[in-house]
Amino acid sequence: MFKKIGVLTGGGDAPGLNAVIRAAVRTAIGEFGLRCIGIEDSFEGILGETQLRKLTTKTVSGILPRGGTILGTRNKGSFCKIIDGKMVVPEMPIDEALRNLEQNKIEALIVIGGEGTLAIAEQFHLRGFPVVGVPKTIDNDLSATELTFGFRTAIDIATESLDRLHTTAASHDRVMILEVMGRNSGWIALEAGLAGSADVILIPEIPFSFDSIVKKVYEREKRGSLFTNIVVAEGATEVGKNEIYLDEEELRLGGVGDYVRMKIEDMTGKESRCVVLGHLQRGGSPNAFDRMLGTNFGACAVRALVTGERGKMVALRAGRVVTVPLADAIANVKSVNPDGQLVRTARDIGISFAAPDEEDH
Ligand code: F6P
Repeated sequence: MFKKIGVLTGGGDAPGLNAVIRAAVRTAIGEFGLRCIGIEDSFEGILGETQLRKLTTKTVSGILPRGGTILGTRNKGSFCKIIDGKMVVPEMPIDEALRNLEQNKIEALIVIGGEGTLAIAEQFHLRGFPVVGVPKTIDNDLSATELTFGFRTAIDIATESLDRLHTTAASHDRVMILEVMGRNSGWIALEAGLAGSADVILIPEIPFSFDSIVKKVYEREKRGSLFTNIVVAEGATEVGKNEIYLDEEELRLGGVGDYVRMKIEDMTGKESRCVVLGHLQRGGSPNAFDRMLGTNFGACAVRALVTGERGKMVALRAGRVVTVPLADAIANVKSVNPDGQLVRTARDIGISFAAPDEEDH
């Protein structure tokens, strides 16, 4: 049985990180009598001059509703390099990190993060170090779990933003475009688009054509609706084209919303505006669901570690928290199924995905 475990958060922040930390610490100390160490700034905190701090039930008191992470995070650094457009985990810092963990008598790790962070966690597992992962990302693109915490809060924020844009679109007879995050998955755009009554949803899984968007704008005009609301995922692409990056070297997506705005304004002559929701989707307090899911994940992760599970990630399946191999969690990105029920429902109620063959659906 362990005496001391480490907890770290990696990747972009997401609402609910502190809920997981709090639950993990309370379970580790209260239920299993372990000591807990917080590792600062993701895996960077176990390199060089280590940045470690004792976590107690007192230090995690009051953090449940707080956004961000009390431990700090990084979504790039010594463990994660982008080489030729791919994320690579270099070997070298792992040796140093393992030495530092041993020196500080940290015997196991709870790693809270998305695909990149969990890929690093898997490297520790492969070197024989006990690790359990907790899936985090507003993008909801981890294949081994039905939901990641942070996603539902991001959907709430994007939905409220669409509601607000709706009133301006209707008052000014404009085309309003909301660009949301999600990397190469369209979950945020799809679910917020449905909940926020978008007329057009553009997602990476269904390449769009401008003719098809314009067709929808004119169809609406014919029916007397002189405005159109479009939600576009940052990774959405026009048929035959690549994603648009703000920074190609750093693989930072962004800019497709404004591209759509310019083209639609040109093609229809209608006044159009684009709003990029950006990091507002990640910041601030988690909603009740993400507090609950984060708490459940945090407690279950510690229990899994203590009961001897290794190289696993906690996951939500059919409403229950289970454990799955970390290797499965990082193997594939979870994409929207273009023929799945949510897309079907959206089409049934008249939402366009602007596919070139949209009229066939
Ligand atoms: O993975 C979460 C996420 O917010 C993506 O949706 C987005 O593409 C990326 O992180 C933005 O990262 P950064 O905070 O480095 O701009």
